[in-house]
Amino acid sequence: MDKMAGERKNTVFYGTFIHSKSLDELEYLHNTAVFVDKEGKIVAVERECDLTTALTIKVSELGWNPDVAIEAPREGQFFFPGLIDTHIHASQYPNVGIFGKSTLLDWLNKYTFPLEASLNDLDKARKVYTRVIRKTLSHGTTCAAYYATVDDLSTVLFADLCAKAGQRALVGKVCMDQMAPDWYRDESWEESIAATKRLISHVESMDSEMRLVRPVITPRFAPSCSKRLLKELGNLARETGLPVQTHISENKGEIELVRKMFPKEETGARDDSYTAVYDVYGLLTDKTILAHGIHLSEEEVEVIKQRGSKISHCPCSNSSITSGEARVRWLLEKGVGVGLGTDMSGGYSPSVLEAARSALLVSRHVAMKGDDNAKLSVEEVLYLATRGGAEVVGLEGKVGAFEVGMDWDAQLIGLCEVDDKGGVAEEEEEGNVDIFGWESWEEKVAKWLFNGDDRNTRKVWVKGRLVHVRK
Ligand code: GUN
Ligand code: FE
Repeated sequence: MDKMAGERKNTVFYGTFIHSKSLDELEYLHNTAVFVDKEGKIVAVERECDLTTALTIKVSELGWNPDVAIEAPREGQFFFPGLIDTHIHASQYPNVGIFGKSTLLDWLNKYTFPLEASLNDLDKARKVYTRVIRKTLSHGTTCAAYYATVDDLSTVLFADLCAKAGQRALVGKVCMDQMAPDWYRDESWEESIAATKRLISHVESMDSEMRLVRPVITPRFAPSCSKRLLKELGNLARETGLPVQTHISENKGEIELVRKMFPKEETGARDDSYTAVYDVYGLLTDKTILAHGIHLSEEEVEVIKQRGSKISHCPCSNSSITSGEARVRWLLEKGVGVGLGTDMSGGYSPSVLEAARSALLVSRHVAMKGDDNAKLSVEEVLYLATRGGAEVVGLEGKVGAFEVGMDWDAQLIGLCEVDDKGGVAEEEEEGNVDIFGWESWEEKVAKWLFNGDDRNTRKVWVKGRLVHVRK
């Protein structure tokens, strides 16, 4: 890591850059130079220029020391914004792919709580958390909204590891004081709040010049929190202005449970809906990330929109544990901000690219039920994976594209260029995406979306710092 951190220089990235211009449009910038200062901020973008001219003119114009670093990959490779995972459980990584035929509530008890509880062992936590950060970075995840576990000590360790690895992260200590085994829950609402505050003070005092890690208030989901705990967490969100993350309307049995556990006569909410429960306790703010939102009603979406809360769409998880199909087009048309979440290990993959292709496929299942307009395009799911995600995690305008003023959170993508003999050049040996040379750039991107993986993610930067190199 230290080797990568190195001494920081102003850097010029040169070549092809692809990013979302809007929900349904990708922009392709060729022969372009992107100037990134020592702090990792994009300070200039020169389109359609040659590198030498761009260097001579811009470096003096920017008042830069001529000793700049140059990153000009070979033709065919391209820069793409770092991917944003708006919902992921770091603690569940060892369980990826292990869910059998379970659905949410039995999955939690059978697979999830025992694993999460076992991470109270700090050595085990360090091993799992180190790996999960490496793994997500290797898939191009430059920013993630993470759930750790109930235990605040290992959650603090996780926050430290994120900062050390240079990944942008929202880190949440999972709050739950009921409906979980006594070996895996907060002893009381007071303890849950105190532990959350310990995490917050730790992260706020962290000696990190980069300031990449932020705490996030994390009620696991309504059923695992007492009314008092939800209320106090809502108060904490108001007092601190910190973001909130939780799950909503994922599974029909869960929704019924919420209706029974939180009747409006007891909560004072306007109705018995899942959304009304969070709303009455002040947990729906413009910094709230709601995972799933599959079975929401029109009225609930209206409230979510009014509060400015956002939805993390987790299609891989929703299919794996048979939760349902979120209607993303409908949410977008209602004006709700949407990003993508792997929801690992409800979802079987730590890759946001996988979440993007799942989103595309699931949207086709929604379409097959009669709403052809529901289909999401390649461009749209890549928007959700970058700019959409940035909006969800409160970094709109700061990351997610290559624009002046944004931070350089980016990845370099390389695909396999097939040679005349049907082989591939040695340095291109790895990967699942074969490029024959006649594809348009739009086609290359589509091929990357559907068959790409971490082998194509050659380098990854967060705030200008190189945090992953594919070996
Ligand atoms: N609802 C409450 N906890 C969880 C969790 O860990 N994963 C998912 N997918 N849903 C949840
Ligand atoms: Fe989840």
